Amino acid sequence: MSAETPLLTVRSLEKRYGARIGCTGISFDLWPGEVLAIVGESGSGKTTLLHCLSARLEPSAGSVSYRMRDGETRDLASLSEAERRFLMRTDWGFVHQNPADGLRMRVSAGANVGERLMAVGERHYGRLRETAGDWLGRVEIDAERIDDRPSEFSGGMRQRLQIARNLVTHPRLVFMDEPTGGLDVSVQARVLDLLRGLVADLGLSVVIVTHDLAVARLLSQRMIVMRGGEIVEEGLSDRVLDDPHHPYTQLLVASIPES
Ligand SMILES: Nc1ncnc2c1ncn2[C@@H]1O[C@H](COP(=O)(O)OP(=O)(O)OP(=O)(O)O)[C@@H](O)[C@H]1O
Ligand SMILES: [Mg+2]
Repeated sequence: MSAETPLLTVRSLEKRYGARIGCTGISFDLWPGEVLAIVGESGSGKTTLLHCLSARLEPSAGSVSYRMRDGETRDLASLSEAERRFLMRTDWGFVHQNPADGLRMRVSAGANVGERLMAVGERHYGRLRETAGDWLGRVEIDAERIDDRPSEFSGGMRQRLQIARNLVTHPRLVFMDEPTGGLDVSVQARVLDLLRGLVADLGLSVVIVTHDLAVARLLSQRMIVMRGGEIVEEGLSDRVLDDPHHPYTQLLVASIPES
């Protein structure tokens, strides 16, 4: 059943901001365990699309459907507010480009991770603290920083904490918007490496927005290339990057600095 049915089904999705098009004519499926990268230049509609997929924005037309844990596929537009919140707390993660948007900066690192666990029903203080400590370790944050606030962390540590906070509940689907965008290049590499390991270990499905084709190559199996709100090319990441068909993708690929 699971391998046969997409986790997300997107059909003729459009989002307008007044007369301006955010994204339009978007159709694709996301399969369980798949990492899909959305790439394209600034203003091409990547964040708009990601927010529609994760029920943060209501589409102007078309649909996004999600296969729930019970196997039923539901149009996100048909979910009640309570159901939508439940998905966001449990089944889904959302990693923001700016960690401050995804963390509570004034509570401790441990509480940031523990809070998501409490949302799925864990109440036992000792277990909360142990699991939080465990996850800090998995994202390479020293256990003795558990009572520090993220405001005292470096950018890379904050991003790793945000990742821990998102993954601790074992979500089925994680949305990421430029998760390494605000970090120094050396810090980026470490966060990416960590993400790649966790995604593989947990068998996560991921939709990741990036303008960095190297990030897309490293993390994703499949890619969508957007321009002007539309998909101009889609395919297996290696194929798209090694043999881009659309002139715009060719331009993007040609502009990657040689490494
Ligand atoms: N809240 C908004 N109100 C009006 N227009 C918006 C809004 N958000 C985005 N847009 C417009 O929608 C289009 C797509 O923007 P979006 O933020 O999705 O692009 P993006 O690909 O994520 O860009 P970036 O790489 O710079 O983050 C742009 O023309 C943008 O100006
Ligand atoms: Mg964006």
